[in-house]
Amino acid sequence: MKASQFFVSTLKEAPADAEVASHKLMMRAGMIKRLGTGIYNYMPMGLRVIRKVEAIVREEMNRAGAVELTMPVVQPAELWQESGRFQGMGPELLRLKDRHERDYVLQPTSEEAITDIARQELRSYKQLPRNFYQIQTKFRDERRPRFGIMRGREFTMKDAYSFDRDLASAVRSYHVMRDAYRAIFDRFGLKYRAVAADSGAIGGDTSEEFQVIADTGEDAIVYCPSSDYAANMEAAEGVALIAARGAAGAALAKTPTPGKSTCADVAAFLGLPLERTVKSLVLATDQVTPEGDIAKTSVWLLLLRGDHDMNEVKVGKIAGLKDGFRFATAAEIDEHFGCKPGYLGPIGLRKPVRVVADRTVANMSDFVCGANEPDFHFTNANWVRDLPEPDVVADIRNVVAGDPSPDGKGVLAIDRGIEVGHVFVLGTKYSKAMNATFLDETGKPQPFEMGCYGIGVTRIAAAAIEQNHDARGIVWPVALAPFTVVLCPIGYDRNAEVKAAADKLHDELLAAGVDVMLDDRGERPGAMFADWELIGVPQRVVISDRGLKEGQLEVQGRREDKASTVALADVVADLQVRLAA
Ligand SMILES: Nc1ncnc2c1ncn2[C@@H]1O[C@H](COP(=O)(O)OP(=O)(O)O)[C@@H](O)[C@H]1O
Ligand SMILES: [Mg+2]
Repeated sequence: MKASQFFVSTLKEAPADAEVASHKLMMRAGMIKRLGTGIYNYMPMGLRVIRKVEAIVREEMNRAGAVELTMPVVQPAELWQESGRFQGMGPELLRLKDRHERDYVLQPTSEEAITDIARQELRSYKQLPRNFYQIQTKFRDERRPRFGIMRGREFTMKDAYSFDRDLASAVRSYHVMRDAYRAIFDRFGLKYRAVAADSGAIGGDTSEEFQVIADTGEDAIVYCPSSDYAANMEAAEGVALIAARGAAGAALAKTPTPGKSTCADVAAFLGLPLERTVKSLVLATDQVTPEGDIAKTSVWLLLLRGDHDMNEVKVGKIAGLKDGFRFATAAEIDEHFGCKPGYLGPIGLRKPVRVVADRTVANMSDFVCGANEPDFHFTNANWVRDLPEPDVVADIRNVVAGDPSPDGKGVLAIDRGIEVGHVFVLGTKYSKAMNATFLDETGKPQPFEMGCYGIGVTRIAAAAIEQNHDARGIVWPVALAPFTVVLCPIGYDRNAEVKAAADKLHDELLAAGVDVMLDDRGERPGAMFADWELIGVPQRVVISDRGLKEGQLEVQGRREDKASTVALADVVADLQVRLAA
């Protein structure tokens, strides 16, 4: 490719709304162009990267036995009413009407459409297992689109869906995909981690996210450096930090803590470690009648150690809280505790509440908690002696770095990650709702066991940059680079020898299968080099009159701070070695 026939458009400055490196650099390198909020043009330079991501994904999906098809971006609402998502999904699902006032949606994923295909096409167990995938535009009306194509509203996803005769077979299909994902992410050349994710209703070891490690990642990922334990914060298990409850010491004492309404302030005021305090969170659940009226409200008290934070996903798994919960209102808190937040605790309640203690709290003794009286806390509180055993003991906190790993093989560390892929077993949620069945060996209809597998194709381009950039621009891994070699002739427009050598090398590299770019724009060297460093091409070859006189060129890797002199005759082989490294 020659620059004059392509489209190179770089910017000195990033637009003001670009916050993270990938967004800034993709805009400056002319890879994307904003059309609206969360909606971007993929410009020629950026599209080449996206095509490379797609090609790797497609090759490995095909290798793993998945079959490609394409489903429409605009889908009739009927299917979505069948699954319940038309009514149930929030405003992320963009709904629209056609000229006949019929309802449609823009696909955020395609479970409904694929289940509709399966129920028509897959009639017998003999046709299973099956895995269909597409690489297609998605639309999600994200609440907070940001970071360019990292969290766009329109984006490209590879989404695959497996259909199996039973759960055991579905888990096998899931493992095939998980292995394919490892192959895909290995080929990208990015540092990533596969982490256990919340597997929702199905439970078990059946949901994993693929996370690209980067400081700006939105997800906290937990791992154990001395074992293979890795999980998203949502799913990372918090063990009890105290093995067994100690004996009660001094008597319970109501202690003045004037104006100290946070655990940290109370601990500092009392001269005690924060780990001796317990914080109280008040939740409420509503039982709703079929008419939508609230029949009954229950109030819950969650107890966490003062230095710990609540994990909403874990709380949502507790019996009674599964169907949704909210924070209690000021009136509900007053009714049950007779006190305002800041001084709440489990002792001396006005009205009974359901008490849920975190595993660590359940083993604490001589702890500090609110006294349900403004400006007072209890010290030396002890289970059984001063308050009844909690109704529920559960893991309801976020783990913190340094916690013991739940596999007992070391301590946990926390990294930031960007979720670029997600694999999970869906079960029969969609097949049952949409009556999608096949006939088993006995001729009986059975619902499909499904799995679904996403890869954020466009997000990967952004994630790769978050992980690989420097002050001069992007540093693409070879597998994703828009071009892997750029030829920078000095004086292409005025020196016939330089032009001839550059053209010849360009053709040789093309013939050798190298994605080469020849910058024939006749730019000054400084500006030319800066452009390609910004764009992030992995290898640069400088062709100059002076070098040619000695039969030599200069080759420099994007991460190297010095060029190497290479004989003209060896340069193709040299570049091939460099690109394979
Ligand atoms: N708004 C978005 N912009 C870009 N990529 C996205 C967006 N939302 C999801 N993706 C990508 O699609 C993949 C599959 O989506 P899914 O797991 O359904 O998303 P989420 O976890 O955000 O609900 C994600 O792992 C991510 O890589
Ligand atoms: Mg996900």
